[in-house]
Amino acid sequence: METVFFNGKFLPKNEICISPDDRGFLFADGIYEVVRWYEGFFYDMSGHITRLKRSLRELRINWPDSDSFSSIALELIKRNNLDNQPAMIYLQVTRGASKRSHSFPSPEVTPTAYAYAWGFTPEKSLQESGIKVMLKEDIRWSRCDIKSVALLPNTISFQEASENGLKECIFVRNGFITEGSHSNIFFVIEGTLFTHPESNHVLSGITRKNILRIANEAGIKVREEAVQENRIRFVKEAFITNTSAEVTPVIEIGGNTLNDGVPGQVTRIIQDKFDNEIKALKGK
Ligand code: PDD
Repeated sequence: METVFFNGKFLPKNEICISPDDRGFLFADGIYEVVRWYEGFFYDMSGHITRLKRSLRELRINWPDSDSFSSIALELIKRNNLDNQPAMIYLQVTRGASKRSHSFPSPEVTPTAYAYAWGFTPEKSLQESGIKVMLKEDIRWSRCDIKSVALLPNTISFQEASENGLKECIFVRNGFITEGSHSNIFFVIEGTLFTHPESNHVLSGITRKNILRIANEAGIKVREEAVQENRIRFVKEAFITNTSAEVTPVIEIGGNTLNDGVPGQVTRIIQDKFDNEIKALKGK
């Protein structure tokens, strides 16, 4: 039986009970994090904890266990015998259970915290071949910087992409490309790497942040500047980043083929540097 974390305890999954009055259920009033386990370590756990605390602060949810996330995650890996395989951790914290009302519960209620781990097989073939993605008007709210569980615009957009045989839906707001339904996106234009700057219109991805660092270290010219949809014809290469897909090349965007349909040179350099960083961390 899978062991999960629930409100301070490690329990068999089938023993978890969540109130129907939980504000996560009623209002999507909660936040989440997804962290990757690389057979021995979590990649940039401190970055995830910093973002977790920020999301909680922005929504004014007082969960006192943020600093324990690393030990909770490790315990989940151990209790589920995932030490020696690639795995993921999902953590969700909601404002807690209270009679339905638009105002926050007063007095405050205890937040509901749930986390679980699962083993997974990385999609290496897509990192090799690259993916095709669609473009669509960004139908999300204006606080995409918060890792909120309110993901309906993301899920329906991703579903639309899937039903069209595409691997991600990339959003466009006011003519500018923001990010994907569950990834950030980078472009290479005339040798310079572009990605949307941190703002309320994108999630500040942990992978994004580390890829910017890796690109800078590699001497690649980087500009945190949004790319206009109508500049796609000047885009030589593109790739998406997230915790599970790492760096995945994009070979077609909104029907436009990039680099004759093969992952580009800059993308390959960045993938190699990222892989080398993981190998070096594994060796520690
Ligand atoms: N999603 N942008 C959005 C909208 C995301 O949902 C994600 C991650 C990212 C990339 O963030 P990171 O590099 O920290 O994984 C960007 C996770 C994986 C998810 O929802 O499952």
